[in-house]
Amino acid sequence: MRRVRASAPGKVILLGEHFVVKGSRALVASIDLRATVEVEPRSSWPSLIVSEGLGASAALDEGLRVRGDPRLEPIAAVLEWLAGQGYSLAPFKARIGGSLPPGAGLGSSAAVGAAFALAYTALHGDPLGPEGLMEASLAGERVVHGNPSGVDPAIAAYGGFLLYRRGEAPRRLDLSLPEGYVVVVADSGIPRRTGDVVSFVLERAEATRPASDLVYRAADELVGAAVEALRAGDAARLGALMDLAHGLLAGLGASSEALERLVHRARGAGALGAKLTGAGWGGSIIALAPEGLALRVCSSLEEAGARWARPVKLGVEGARLEA
Ligand code: PMV
Repeated sequence: MRRVRASAPGKVILLGEHFVVKGSRALVASIDLRATVEVEPRSSWPSLIVSEGLGASAALDEGLRVRGDPRLEPIAAVLEWLAGQGYSLAPFKARIGGSLPPGAGLGSSAAVGAAFALAYTALHGDPLGPEGLMEASLAGERVVHGNPSGVDPAIAAYGGFLLYRRGEAPRRLDLSLPEGYVVVVADSGIPRRTGDVVSFVLERAEATRPASDLVYRAADELVGAAVEALRAGDAARLGALMDLAHGLLAGLGASSEALERLVHRARGAGALGAKLTGAGWGGSIIALAPEGLALRVCSSLEEAGARWARPVKLGVEGARLEA
């Protein structure tokens, strides 16, 4: 029997998370941690889904009802979207794995959705392109939280560096980090639900209008400035912009004591800038570090309570079929 494997990258939002929910731009890059999904046909319903990373499994009946771990419900939503595009629903077994940890704010749910959609549609002889993969993954993200901007599905599908504005086609940018610098990711290990943080920040923004409108405009400006800093290879300016973006996010309530500790520790160990990435409260932070100090920054972050910290490669390939 045929079996198809696909993978999609995780991501770090370099700048613009939360603000992107209300129409500001975000700058996002794929990272070299990938979710993989292997799909093979099954002779009868139910379909079976197993996630190694979550330690979860579920059965899916012909009506796309999920029995088992509810964290696998986005897969049903992806399938429903595919059915709406004319793909036939046939029973399968899907195994979700890879190196991208779930729940770390690194876009794992969107990457799994895109990789699953690619593997399933390839198995059925008509693999989706990036635009379709983004839409399929977005259908899954709507289950994870009610109001996704779409930035995570976009980067999982396209990879690279993207300038993203809600409701517009993502813009691919040919960027790289300034020579001699790396981005370090540190996972706080603290779980949180993206939807809860998104609602909290939106309430804060609403309660502080019209002043907060200026904050959203400033966040959008920071994204434009970061793109310019990257083009100019100006690491010091990029780091300062990241610090400023973190301050705005913290001001709207997306940070936490643990994340503040990590961000400050990274800066103290020599990072030029550091900020939360993704929704906040828990999940991960990123830091821009000189290559020569990256290991020191990582060990400081682990001493300060991070579950793990490591430099990541940015701008890797989007969703793809694996041999
Ligand atoms: O799910 P996370 O932690 O990668 O956060 C996504 C980024 C947000 O801007 C907070 C939400 C969104 O939909 O854009």
